[in-house]
Amino acid sequence: MDSFKAFRVKQDEDGMVQKGFDTLRKEDLPEGEVVVKVAYSSINYKDALATQENSGVIREFPAVLGIDLSGTVVESSVPSFKEGDEVLAFGFQLGVGHSGGYSEYARVPADWLTALPTGLSLKEAMVFGTAGFTAAQSMHALQHAGVTPESGDILVTGATGGVGSITIAILSKLGYSVVAATRQLDEAGDYLRKLGASSLIHPDEILLDKPRPLAKRRWAGAVENLGGDFVPAILSQINPNGAVALIGNVTGHRFKGTVLPFILRGVQLLGINSVEVSSQLRTELWKLLGGEWKPEQLDELVYEEVPLDTVESALETVLNGGHRQGRYVVKVK
Ligand SMILES: NC(=O)c1ccc[n+]([C@@H]2O[C@H](COP(=O)([O-])OP(=O)(O)OC[C@H]3O[C@@H](n4cnc5c(N)ncnc54)[C@H](OP(=O)(O)O)[C@@H]3O)[C@@H](O)[C@H]2O)c1
Repeated sequence: MDSFKAFRVKQDEDGMVQKGFDTLRKEDLPEGEVVVKVAYSSINYKDALATQENSGVIREFPAVLGIDLSGTVVESSVPSFKEGDEVLAFGFQLGVGHSGGYSEYARVPADWLTALPTGLSLKEAMVFGTAGFTAAQSMHALQHAGVTPESGDILVTGATGGVGSITIAILSKLGYSVVAATRQLDEAGDYLRKLGASSLIHPDEILLDKPRPLAKRRWAGAVENLGGDFVPAILSQINPNGAVALIGNVTGHRFKGTVLPFILRGVQLLGINSVEVSSQLRTELWKLLGGEWKPEQLDELVYEEVPLDTVESALETVLNGGHRQGRYVVKVK
C-alpha cells in the first residue's frame, strides 16, 4: 500500500469546490485503529450533494467521499478486529469529515466498524449500504411501535429511491401490505411490484386539496422519505395508534401540522437517524439484513455497478435526476 487512489473534493483558493482523483499515501489517511482495504462503496444522495458548492455536507476539506464502505482489514491495533476480517462501515463522520469509501484504503475508528454479517457478501453489504441500514432502522422502529402485518397497509414514499426500494422489499418479505408512492407510476410499476409493493399511488394523492388535521384513515404505518408537506398530510391519514418512521427531506425540511393526530389518534412519529447508532443496534440490524430480512430480490435493487474510476459521472447522474430507481454500487477493488 505505498500509494493508492481516492476520489476527493477540495476547495481552491477562491473557496470553490473542485473534485477528482488523487494519489494518497497511508500517512494521508486520518486517525483510526483499523485500516481497511475497501472492496465496495455505494452512492447515496448525500454523496452526490457533497460534490456541490455550499452543500453543508462536508465538515472539512479536502475530503475523500463515500459515506459507506465494505472491505477487508489489513491492519488493526485493537483486539476486536484482526487482519483478514471482513467488515463494513457507514455513518458517523465517514465520507463527510473523515476519509470515506471512494478510496482503495480507509483508516477508521474501530467503533465505526461492524463485522460483515453471515449471509452477506461484501458487495451485498453495499447493495444495502446506508440506505439499506436506514430502511432496516425504520422497519425496526415500526415493529417496536406495534405495527404488524395485520394492522393494515403501510405507505412508503420516495418508493423508487434507495431507502424506499429496500424498505418495500423488507416489508413485503415480512408479510406487510405495501402501498408505494412514486411519481413514476408507469416506468417503475414492474420494478416496485417485483420488490413486493401491493399497489402504487402518485405522491400527489397524499397531499390533500384542503389539508385537514385529521383526514380519512388510510395507513397503519408509513415510511416517509419526502419531508415538507408530506409529513402533516401523512400524519393526518394514519390509523389510530399507527406510526410514521420519518427519514428524509427530499421535498423540504419544514412542515406545519397540528397535535391532533398525536392526541386524538395516538399516532407516533418516529425519527430515524442512521448516522449515530449504537454498536449493539448496528450489529442486530445487519444480522437481520443478512438473515430473515434479506430480500430474495436483492439483485433487482442494483441500478448499476460502477468502477471507482467512473464514480464522478455516476454522482452527476444522481444529482441531475438521471438515476431512476434502486442503488448504485461502487466497485473499488
Ligand atoms: N435519516 C437518515 O439517517 C437518512 C439516511 C439515508 C437517507 N436519508 C434521506 O432519505 C431520503 C431518501 O434517501 P434515498 O437515498 O432513498 O434517496 P433517493 O435514492 O434520491 O430517492 C428519493 C426518491 O424520492 C422521490 N422524489 C425525488 N424528488 C421528488 C419530488 N420532488 N417529489 C416527490 N418525490 C420525489 C423519487 O422517487 P419516485 O421517482 O419514485 O417518486 C426518488 O427516487 C433523502 O432525503 C435522504 O437524504 C436519511
